[in-house]
Amino acid sequence: MRMRVDRWLSTLGVCSRSEAKAMIRSGAVMINSRIVRDPGEEAETETDLLRVQGLEIDGRIQRHVMLHKPAGVLTAARDRKQKTVMDLLPEVYGAIGCMPVGRLDRDTTGLLIFSCDGEMNHRLLSPGRHVEKVYEARVQGRLAASDCRAFEAGLVLSDFTALPARLEILDAGSDTSLGRVTVQEGKFHQVKRMFNAVGHDVLELKRIRFGPLTLPPDLPEGAWRELREEELLALRRAAGMV
Ligand code: URA
Repeated sequence: MRMRVDRWLSTLGVCSRSEAKAMIRSGAVMINSRIVRDPGEEAETETDLLRVQGLEIDGRIQRHVMLHKPAGVLTAARDRKQKTVMDLLPEVYGAIGCMPVGRLDRDTTGLLIFSCDGEMNHRLLSPGRHVEKVYEARVQGRLAASDCRAFEAGLVLSDFTALPARLEILDAGSDTSLGRVTVQEGKFHQVKRMFNAVGHDVLELKRIRFGPLTLPPDLPEGAWRELREEELLALRRAAGMV
């Protein structure tokens, strides 16, 4: 993206816009090994090489991330009291507007995607697009084939009827069971409410897939990484953008 250099620095959270102007005029900023003295000069944010006071800075403002969300953090941009998912990423991601795509409850773990592309985020969450999400749920009681049929039929909840969902029983015990559920929508507390509707409290919930992306087995809880090119392309496809 083409952007004025003073704005680029402030967008990255390096400094304020006025500090950026002063720094540029002082000769502290280099683009592709050339000192820039005009704050209004434009640069290419994703490809130009940025140096401030001799230090190379990653200047990309279009970034996309996957996080293995741990329990106990809010999915929110910020919160005055509680830790949020943004606290698990370096500050620059918040500065450039890399935001969670949808939300997971505080006690839910698993795959959470972040992106700077507001249009893609919006499309992926749009109810009409039916982007699949897959969860594993440890629930109270013994899951039965009748539960799978109820999920498949579309459960009637207090304020909406859920679209047909697939429930696979991975383990059925008399105390607790493990189910894998695939939903096509993302309403508030949806999976917990669906299990509640068939008489099972959810004890643990983990998202293992969002659209085309699966939680990698080598990404531990609390860890994150940027999306690979092919993963971003798959997401854009799911969003109907390519
Ligand atoms: N459904 C829920 O009930 N909670 C989540 O965090 C995600 C889906």
